[in-house]
Amino acid sequence: MTLAQYYDTVRTATQDICQPLQTEDYVPQPVPFVSPPKWHLAHSTWFFEEFILKKYLPGYVVFDEDFGFLFNSYYNNVGNRVFRANRGNITRPNVAQVYEYRQYVDAHMQELIQAKADDAALAGLIVLGLNHEQQHQELLVTDIKYILGGNPLFPVYDEVADWEAQHNTGTGFVTIDEGVYNVGHEGAGFSFDNEHGRHKVYLNQFTISNTLVTNAQYLEFINAGGYTNFNYWLDEGWSWVTENKIEAPLYWYIIDRQWMHYTLSGLKPVDPDAMLTHVSFYEAAAFAEWKRMRLPTEFEWEIASAQLNWGKRWEWTHSAYLPYPNFHKPDGALGEYNGKFMVNQMVLRGASCATPKGHSRNTYRNFFHAGERWQFTGIRLVKL
Ligand code: AVJ
Ligand code: FE
Repeated sequence: MTLAQYYDTVRTATQDICQPLQTEDYVPQPVPFVSPPKWHLAHSTWFFEEFILKKYLPGYVVFDEDFGFLFNSYYNNVGNRVFRANRGNITRPNVAQVYEYRQYVDAHMQELIQAKADDAALAGLIVLGLNHEQQHQELLVTDIKYILGGNPLFPVYDEVADWEAQHNTGTGFVTIDEGVYNVGHEGAGFSFDNEHGRHKVYLNQFTISNTLVTNAQYLEFINAGGYTNFNYWLDEGWSWVTENKIEAPLYWYIIDRQWMHYTLSGLKPVDPDAMLTHVSFYEAAAFAEWKRMRLPTEFEWEIASAQLNWGKRWEWTHSAYLPYPNFHKPDGALGEYNGKFMVNQMVLRGASCATPKGHSRNTYRNFFHAGERWQFTGIRLVKL
């Protein structure tokens, strides 16, 4: 695939995700961590305008001078911007204007790709922009789910495909020998800066499950009083449970004495054999404690991954999101992309049913706060 085709494929996929939406669905921001679909469409476009077109395409005129303020996410080096929790208040530009913005930027990007086909640094930035767009594709899916899931009518996003009812394909456990292993990304193919600096780690022997926790297994935890016994919980996790009155995974409801959950296919009975999803790190750690097992570290996960079935859920690890020993923050505004978030978040490994195909890899480091659970998160256990 040429770069021009790759660009077009990724940009089109973003719009395909929004195809089932009504205009009204593009705008709300029910909670600060969810962004409106309209905002994602514009922000991922702004990324190409700000970091590529302005610098590389001579005479480029921005689509609208105000869009930098509206659609800059968190780059202090680029300037002031709308406070995150106010993204849902940006009712103008309207949805149609945001799609025009996408078209405008896409036309200029294609012009640039034709004009500077052999500029390797530029090509690298475009590939970063496309991987950024794919991260927002996943966020679009999970944010759309949160927006629709907050509607008492439980609207169906996808009438045809069942994105979520995924069952384990493997069985049993895998034992990995003790030893010194190399972790981190190296070599050809795109990777994010937070994966760079391949380095050695020592691992003790460990035995890791080849399956993810199922809904049936998690229901046993609920029925055993998992959410009422503080002994299973990390201290912060117990505060989180009590302060937020948490009793089940996100999107789970008891209706007519049956466990139901909201899915992208609408409200459905919880499938006992499907992989559990929408749990926080706190819940994952409490479940592991109840099972008398533990969560893997991110390095155990990476080394075992070649022998595991993975890719349907993001898997919580018990590793803090920290810089690797030779992490280098890129110069300039793009240095803010990953490095500045390396405090108070946990690493997730794998990929989910919302991750674009080919976007993740076994060195990929996703990260979220311990209480966040609107991504398609799951649990894999290691024996004690
Ligand atoms: C890696 C998913 C935590 O949500 O901010 C989007 C992805 N980075 N734009 C996030 C991201 C820049 C990032 N996560
Ligand atoms: Fe972004």
